[in-house]
Amino acid sequence: FSCGIVIVAAGRGERAGQSAEGPKQYRRIGGRPVIAHTLDIFATWTGTGPVVVVIHPDDEDLFASARKRMSRQLDLTVVHGGPTRQVSVLAGLEALAATGAEYVLIHDAVRPFFDHALLDRCHAALQHGAEAVLPAVAVADTLKRARAGGIVEETVPRADLYAAQTPQCFRLETILSAHRRAAAGGRADFTDDASIAEWAGIPVLLVEGSADNIKLTLRRDISMADEKLTRHAI
Ligand code: C5P
Repeated sequence: FSCGIVIVAAGRGERAGQSAEGPKQYRRIGGRPVIAHTLDIFATWTGTGPVVVVIHPDDEDLFASARKRMSRQLDLTVVHGGPTRQVSVLAGLEALAATGAEYVLIHDAVRPFFDHALLDRCHAALQHGAEAVLPAVAVADTLKRARAGGIVEETVPRADLYAAQTPQCFRLETILSAHRRAAAGGRADFTDDASIAEWAGIPVLLVEGSADNIKLTLRRDISMADEKLTRHAI
């Protein structure tokens, strides 16, 4: 079966600083906008169904030119996002529901380094009946909780801690109704979709993420990503 895809790209990327190229999902790495790399990975995956990209209303031109830099064209629907990631995802899910898709992979445009093997693991977990699937990696650093002023209060045991990635994968009906309920209940503070599933009491299955699948958040992440791709191209 194929999976509908929602790619959220409506953020302003404030933590990455200002750039003439626009928000971080449009910054060029390896000569092309971040989002063109992200879209290409879905465009070449056999499991990809209908695709919805959620953008900011001010970014129509940026998105149109980024789209031209994809190496393979992809049929996609563009919708406008909102003030938080949660609102943007819900707009994408509503648009995807209109296509009749049964499953959805929700992905951050600013993660351009996932691969087909990761998508295949997600797909297999859905195929085995999981309602919600979360790619994650075990936390490698020792974690500290500190109070204001930077004084360490405690060391947090990391044995059962994982860092959540995207794409997060769901039965569309399940996550759409959880999202609608969260929005109707005035909850707007969820930073990922698995946490909405958890809140709604839906079991979330972990699958192995990928160490390369980083989220480009800070200016430094973008320059490191650019160096990585440029080095590989030589
Ligand atoms: O800000 P953060 O790094 O958590 O954003 C993760 C993803 O969510 C990015 O791809 C960003 O464009 C998207 N986003 C969105 N709408 C918002 C905020 C973030 O689509 N209002």
